[in-house]
Formats: sequence, structure tokens, C-alpha cells
Amino acid sequence: MLQYVTTNPGKLREAKSYLGDETIDTYDYDYPEIQAPTLEPIAAAGARDAYREVGEPVVVDDAGLFIDAFDGFPGPYSSFVETTMGVDRVWELAEPLSDRSAAFRCVLAYCDGEAVDDPVDDGDLPVQCFTGVVDGEIVAPRGDGGFGYDPIFEHDGATFAERTAAEKNELSHRGRALAAFAEWYQQR
Ligand code: IMP
Repeated sequence: MLQYVTTNPGKLREAKSYLGDETIDTYDYDYPEIQAPTLEPIAAAGARDAYREVGEPVVVDDAGLFIDAFDGFPGPYSSFVETTMGVDRVWELAEPLSDRSAAFRCVLAYCDGEAVDDPVDDGDLPVQCFTGVVDGEIVAPRGDGGFGYDPIFEHDGATFAERTAAEKNELSHRGRALAAFAEWYQQR
């Protein structure tokens, strides 16, 4: 069984809604996150650490909100900024901007100890990464669904917090990364 290693119930709900309960199980392990300006090395290091801990095929998910006018901030620091400043204050900072374009990005990193087609770097365990991106705009908070920055991220007329998990998966960074991963994993 594939272990989706996360302590974030929002990510897990979306992965289960996409892949189904019979494909993935959850391993609640808070792997140490390295610091890096992009998501891929963070996810890859997490996957290696999680594989060593779990000893079974693992997927970890590193994601964040990248605001163009802030040169991508909060990006890889999205979790920290959410728990310190909070989402409402991110909206207050973005409100005066004339251009509030932003993107959510998600990198899924897979490790089962075996060789992969396209290893992400030359770390000691092979890791394959899958990226999903969705463009949108920062808006005043709306909606009760989702998690994190969903209430302030609008795509196609609605915020992610105004959509069901299934609707969000059809459009979202995580849904897109999960789609790429699922296709590859089926063949593996
Ligand atoms: P991570 O655990 O380092 O991947 O942090 C991800 C953080 O980015 C979360 O704690 C949220 O603040 C934010 N984030 C990632 N994906 C989403 C999403 O789908 N919706 C809203 N916020 C997200």
C-alpha cells in the first residue's frame, strides 16, 4: 500500500478524494523540512526521510502560494506564514496591489527505494517528482471549504474555499500533480 505521509488533514482529504481509499493509506509522520527557495528539493528530502521512517512506498506533498507582486512570497514558507501572520493579513497586504495575480504550486515526491525514470537530483535514494500549478488571483476571503489560503485564492470566478474537494481537485495544483502521479504510478 502506498503511504501518503502528511500531518495535514486538508491535503490528505484531497489525495483520498482523488486516488481513492483503496490506493493510499496515511502515515502520520512530521518529517523535518529543509529550507530551500523552491518546492522540489524540499519535497524530495521529505520523501527520502519518510521512506527511511516508513519502509514502504511513500508520497509526500510540498505546496505553497506564490504571489507574483511579492516575488513568489510566501512560496515555500506558506505554512509558516499561515500560522504566524494568518491568511487574513496576507489579504490585507495584497489588497492595495494593482496586480494580485498568484499561483498555487504543489510538488508530489515519490520514493520506494528503487530506481525511477527521472530522478530529481543525485540524493542517496531515487525520488521522482510531479508538479501541479494553478493560476489565480488574491481576493477578500470567501467560503468555508478547503484549508489554508483557499478563501483568498480565486480561480475562474470562485475561491477554492467555495468549491467541494472534488471540484477543487479538478482544477487545483494538487489535483494536477495527483493526475500526473496517478498515471505514472499505474504503470509502475
Ligand atoms: P507544506 O506543508 O510545507 O507543504 O505547506 C503547505 C502550506 O501551503 C499549507 O500549510 C497552506 O498554508 C498552503 N497550501 C498548500 N496547498 C494549499 C491548498 O491547496 N490550499 C490552501 N493552502 C494551501
